[in-house]
Amino acid sequence: MSRLTNKHIILAITGGIAAYKSAELVRLLIKAGAQVEVVMTSGATAFITPLTLQALSGNPVHQHLLNPKAEAGMGHIQLARWADLLLIAPASANVMARLAQGQADDLLTTLCLATDAPVLLAPAMNQAMWRDPATQSNLTTLLARGIQIHGPAEGEQACGDTGAGRMLEPSELLTTVKAQFDQGLLAGKTLVITAGPTREAIDPVRYISNHSSGKMGYALAQAARDQGATVTLISGPTHLAKPDDIKFVAVESAQDMLEASLNVGHSADYFIAAAAVADYRPIIASQEKLKKLNADDRLSLDLVQNPDILATMAKQHPQTICIGFAAETENLILNGQTKLGRKGVHMIIANDVSNTDIGFNSDNNQVSLITSNGVEELPLLSKQQLARRLIVAITNTSHKA
Ligand code: PMT
Repeated sequence: MSRLTNKHIILAITGGIAAYKSAELVRLLIKAGAQVEVVMTSGATAFITPLTLQALSGNPVHQHLLNPKAEAGMGHIQLARWADLLLIAPASANVMARLAQGQADDLLTTLCLATDAPVLLAPAMNQAMWRDPATQSNLTTLLARGIQIHGPAEGEQACGDTGAGRMLEPSELLTTVKAQFDQGLLAGKTLVITAGPTREAIDPVRYISNHSSGKMGYALAQAARDQGATVTLISGPTHLAKPDDIKFVAVESAQDMLEASLNVGHSADYFIAAAAVADYRPIIASQEKLKKLNADDRLSLDLVQNPDILATMAKQHPQTICIGFAAETENLILNGQTKLGRKGVHMIIANDVSNTDIGFNSDNNQVSLITSNGVEELPLLSKQQLARRLIVAITNTSHKA
């Protein structure tokens, strides 16, 4: 079975003479076992007909954002969710500029914003257009957002110029696409990731907990799996679906989470603590439901500190690269740096949880990466995009505080 068997690829074609090569690319992708949906901009249809791409892909070509007929079938959001990978080949200077601005005024740009799949660009344009500072600045912006750029190649161009601007050959792009599903950065590595909240029982029906949704930890688990890792996700209670191809351990309390981490963590290359673990639990969880007291009476709970799972893992498994989060409402960097040293970990990913647009239960997050080498600020990203960036950063980490 090929690495591309049943992989869902969107091949988007923009206006440029290299569009004719995309027909061959579709043929190669299909031959390798991928399912291919083709998206064409109006510029692309000036160079190659949708009928050619339909015949090669076996599917009608998607051309319009607001086409009632198309939306009744696989609408643009469904298409964005369907994709395992979105490849724009050729990618014109125009589409790079529009993506850099975050536009969503046609099907392709909207798909790029809506998809969680990796987005790859194979630029093709005149060499002067490629070298122009505007295109280079757009390139920097797109790279910073985690969009992958493959090519352009150097050589003779259709316009007679010579220089960088040729789209990579279809066979080279096929290799690039295959590599996305290949071993990945974490091939052969084992990761244990904690996610979600913990629940600390007060009695059989009540507990202490927090607002963690699990989204950040689950996104990390999926990004690590996509980079070829064997992943165990230890999750507190969430409403999220269990991700495919990931070992899953459901836990309730901090003590359960510690036990599960120690059980599976001994052979882990990386331990990532994204869970929001309750720092305290009731000393005694009542076996019976606590009764309501008289109106004037007060009820107090005696709490005891929970074990620190991350610090325990870092201490007991010095060979494991341990990464923690810091959920802070003030002095983000300073408090993050303190946690880096106190917990003895390789990296702290600090997020400002006083901002309700990021952190707990939101779809986006913005973090600072704190290591003994310094601090790196990342931009505001969806948790899926951020997870992919974090996995790359984490694989480059090897020094403790
Ligand atoms: O789940 P989401 O809704 O997507 O939200 C994501 C998040 C905000 C929960 C996540 O980005 C995050 O910040 N997770 C860590 C939350 C937290 O408990 O931070 P902390 O600063 O209190 O803890 C520091 C680190 O020690 C964390 O890695 C935590 O998992 C770990 N810890 C804390 C206490 C404890 N007893 N054991 C631990 O392992």
